[in-house]
Amino acid sequence: MATPPPPLRRATLLLAAVLVGALASTARADLVISRADRRVDLTSHIVRVLSSLKVENVGPDPDSQVLLSSPNIQAKNLAAIRAFATEGKVKGPSTVLSIEVVQPSGAPPELTFFSALLPKPLEKGKILHLDVLTVFTHSLQPFPEEINQAEAQLVVYQDSAHYLSPYPVKVQTLAIRLPGGRVESYTRHPSAKLVDSELKYGSSEELPPFSYLPVIVHFENNNPFAVAKEVIREIEISHWGNVQITEHYNIAHGGARLKGEFSRNLIARLPPRAHSIYYRDEIGNISTSHLWSDSKKTQLEIEPRFPLFGGWQTTFTVGYGLPLQDFVFYSDGKRFLNITFGSPIEEILIEKLIVKVVLPEGSKDIEVSAPFPTKQWQEVKYSHLDIVGRPVVVLEKPDVIPEHNLYFQVYYKFNNISLLREPLMLITGFFLLFLACIVYMGTDMSISKSSPSYLAKLQWDEVQATVQKIQGIFEQCLAVHDKLEASLRDLSRTGDIQSCKAARKAADAQFKELSKELKPLLTSLQSSPQSYQIWPKVEDLIIKEREMQEKLMTRHSTVVDSFEKKLRGQHLENRIALQQQKIAALRQEVESLLEYISEI
Ligand SMILES: *[C@@H]1O[C@H](CO)[C@@H](O)[C@H](O)[C@H]1NC(C)=O
Ligand SMILES: *[C@@H]1O[C@H](CO)[C@@H](O)[C@H](O)[C@H]1NC(C)=O
Repeated sequence: MATPPPPLRRATLLLAAVLVGALASTARADLVISRADRRVDLTSHIVRVLSSLKVENVGPDPDSQVLLSSPNIQAKNLAAIRAFATEGKVKGPSTVLSIEVVQPSGAPPELTFFSALLPKPLEKGKILHLDVLTVFTHSLQPFPEEINQAEAQLVVYQDSAHYLSPYPVKVQTLAIRLPGGRVESYTRHPSAKLVDSELKYGSSEELPPFSYLPVIVHFENNNPFAVAKEVIREIEISHWGNVQITEHYNIAHGGARLKGEFSRNLIARLPPRAHSIYYRDEIGNISTSHLWSDSKKTQLEIEPRFPLFGGWQTTFTVGYGLPLQDFVFYSDGKRFLNITFGSPIEEILIEKLIVKVVLPEGSKDIEVSAPFPTKQWQEVKYSHLDIVGRPVVVLEKPDVIPEHNLYFQVYYKFNNISLLREPLMLITGFFLLFLACIVYMGTDMSISKSSPSYLAKLQWDEVQATVQKIQGIFEQCLAVHDKLEASLRDLSRTGDIQSCKAARKAADAQFKELSKELKPLLTSLQSSPQSYQIWPKVEDLIIKEREMQEKLMTRHSTVVDSFEKKLRGQHLENRIALQQQKIAALRQEVESLLEYISEI
C-alpha cells in the first residue's frame, strides 16, 4: 500500500517562485563559489548541515566578507551557525569567523542573510576555503502525525538541491545522511542517487545566484525526539569542596503523537568524578535509572517510571555533586567557575534553558563570559544560616542544542573570611545555648530541692518507665528489620518474589504502627525536666533507626528489582554490598544507643 506523498510546504514552492525573479544585485558579482559540498546529517532530530565552500574572488577589489543566505522558514529554526576559514589552495589551520545577521539592500525579503567577516580581505584572484556548520531544530516534520507503538516513525525533511547563495555556484554536491531505516520517497531530480541510506544530488553547471530547487525526503527516523520545554540548571558553588548541580527537566516527545503506549530511555553523560547522583520524578526516587562510570565520564540512563502515552510529557530532576577543584579556579585575585553550559542529556533540544550559578555568600565583582549571547540577570538565594543571601547569576537561552555545550565562566571575588562566617555563627549559637542550659539546670535544681523529694522521685520513675517502653518499641523495630533480611534470604533460596514483596509491605505497615505508638511516649519524655540527659540519646536513636529503616527498604527493593528483571553485574553487586555495609554500621550504632539508655 503506497503512502500518499507528504505535502510540500506551500512556502517552499512560493519561495522557489520568488527567487527565480530575485535580482543578483544583492551580491557583488566579484565572488564566485567554485565548489560547494554540503553534508546534511538527519540521523537524529537535530539537523546538522556542513557546507564546505571554495570561494574565489574574480573581481578587481579585495573582499572582506562572505554572505550566506537561508530561507526565512529555515532560518527561524537555526540554532547555531559557525564558520571556519582557510585561505589558499591547500587546507591548513582554520580561523573561526565572526558572523552577524545583515540585510543587504535589494535582497529578497524571504531570505535571511549572514555575513562571515574575514580576518583579512580576500585579494583579487585568491581562493578561500570556508566551512559553515549550521544546526537546525524543529526541521523534521512527523508524517503521518500520529502512529501506533508498533509503527515506525516517519518524518519529512525539505531543502534545496542547489546551494542557495547570493553568488554564482559552479560545481556542487549535496549528500543527505539518513538514519538507515526505510526511505518512503524522495524527490527524483535527474542527479538523485540513493546509496546505503545516503541520498545524493549534484550539479556541475554554473548556476546563477539564488538558484533554488526544492527536494523533500520522507524517511524513517526512530530516534527519540526529546524536546525539553524548559530546563532549569542550578550550579551551586560551595567553597567547602563541592559544586552541586540540580537540573529540573520538563520534557516532551517531539515526534509523531503515539496512539498506544510508549517508552524511551534518555542517556545523560555526566563529568567523570560526579558523585551523589540522584534522579527523581514527581513521585519520588526512581529505581530504574542505571549508572556506569569510568575515568572519562559517568553515564546515567533514565527510564521514565511509567510507559508514556502519545505525545508524552514528563518532569523530573537530576542532581549530582562535582569536585570543586575540577570546576572552580583562581587567577589574578579572582575565582572563576569554568563549566559547560548545556544539559548532559544526549541529543536533547531545550526550548528554554535557564542556568543559575549560585555563588557563595559574600561574593563580589561578578562577571560572566559566555561563548554566545544570553539574557542575563542576578538574583539572591537564601538558605539557612545566610545573612545577606547568596548572589545568583542567571543566564537564559532559547533553543539550546548539544552544540551549545561549551564552557562558560563566572568570575567573582571572594574573601576567605566569609568562609568562616557560618561556622562562627554556629559556634556562637552553641555557646549561647550552653549558657541557657546552665541557667535552666540551675533553676531546675533549685525547684527539685525546694520540692518534696518524693515528687522528684516520681518524675524520675516516670522517665524510666517511658524510656523502657521506648526501648521496647525499638527492639520490635529491630525484629522487623530481621524479618526483612530473612525475606531476602528466602528469596534467593525459593525465588518467590511475591512473598518477598508481601514481607516488605508487612514491614512497612509495622514500622508505621510502631512509629504511631512511639509518638506519645516521646512527647511525654521530652516534656519531663528529668530527661535532659537522656533526651539527646533518644533523639539520636530515632534518627539512626529511621536512616537504617530507609536504607533497608532501599536495599530490599534494589535486590527484589534486580531479581525480578534478572539484572546482574558487578556494579549492582557493589551497590548492594555498599548498602549492606552502611546498614551494618547503623545497626551497631542503634544497638549501642539502646544499651546506653537501658543503663539509666
Ligand atoms: C533517593 O535515593 C538516594 C540514594 O539512592 C537516597 O539517599 C535518598 O534518600 C532517596 N530519596 C527518597 C525520597 O527516597
Ligand atoms: C575551561 O575548561 C576547558 C576544558 O577544561 C578549557 O579548555 C578552557 O580553556 C577553560 N577556560 C578557561 C577560561 O579557563
